[in-house]
Amino acid sequence: MNPAVLGGFDPAVPNAARMYDYFLGGKDNLPADRAAAEQVLRFVPEIPIGIRENRRFLARAVRHLAELGIRQFLDIGAGLPTQANVHQLVERYAPGARTVYVDNDPQVLAHARALLQDSPDVVVADGDLRRPEEILADPAVRAHLDFDRPVAVLLLAILHFIPDEDDPAGILARIRAGLAPGSHIAISHVAVDQRPQAAPGVEGVYRDASARFVARMSDEIAPYFAGLRLLDPGLVNLHQWRPDEDEAVHPVLRTVGNYFICGIGRLD
Ligand SMILES: C[S@@+](CC[C@H](N)C(=O)[O-])C[C@H]1O[C@@H](n2cnc3c(N)ncnc32)[C@H](O)[C@@H]1O
Repeated sequence: MNPAVLGGFDPAVPNAARMYDYFLGGKDNLPADRAAAEQVLRFVPEIPIGIRENRRFLARAVRHLAELGIRQFLDIGAGLPTQANVHQLVERYAPGARTVYVDNDPQVLAHARALLQDSPDVVVADGDLRRPEEILADPAVRAHLDFDRPVAVLLLAILHFIPDEDDPAGILARIRAGLAPGSHIAISHVAVDQRPQAAPGVEGVYRDASARFVARMSDEIAPYFAGLRLLDPGLVNLHQWRPDEDEAVHPVLRTVGNYFICGIGRLD
């Protein structure tokens, strides 16, 4: 066996987390990631704009959840560390509140652990969103979060890597079942309403990657909020979710239809 693939790490396989890092202008990516990301950009050149909006939504979402009094954050599909990571936003808006990062990518976990080894308010756990009960039952997660009290579950830019056969709506229901009233679930998900013709090409690039991308329309994503009360302004494009007054909207986004939608639902 090629020693490079030992331990599940094969540099020749494009990696979804590292491709995302490349789209964000980061340095934690390899030639295979960059080549695959460039192919995706040929189909959808605006991806970096959407991804930057996703990070802005993340920041506004954490701030809003902190203002609502949430003091526990469970970020599933955490991704490679970048700027304004969840635990840093939590530190800023809810000092002393707790964060758990979950991912199923060994490199993401290694980076997160290296960055956070001295942070008592943060735990990093290996987990797969397709098996949510295991995440909620993980002793390290349970030692850090009290599931009898409200938790904010962040599912940002991850559900479009969960194929229909893994039943994403069912996964949401199983997560809800483990949460106390007053908990919130934040979701962001690429929507291909505007560019259905690009979807097969992008799905094709990710077919050989560490996680498969699934193109969905907005009306396929809306049911993920079943059983939750959607906070205002509902399920909208990233830049439309409670934007800050001084936040400039990229001109490309002014006229575009649904491209990447998001929302936060409360479990009453
Ligand atoms: C595009 S990144 C999103 C990072 C961050 N949540 C954000 O929105 O900026 C997606 C992350 O989800 C992770 N991921 C994909 N499928 C997963 C699964 N089934 N379980 C856990 N993590 C998964 C990938 O490893 C990657 O780190």
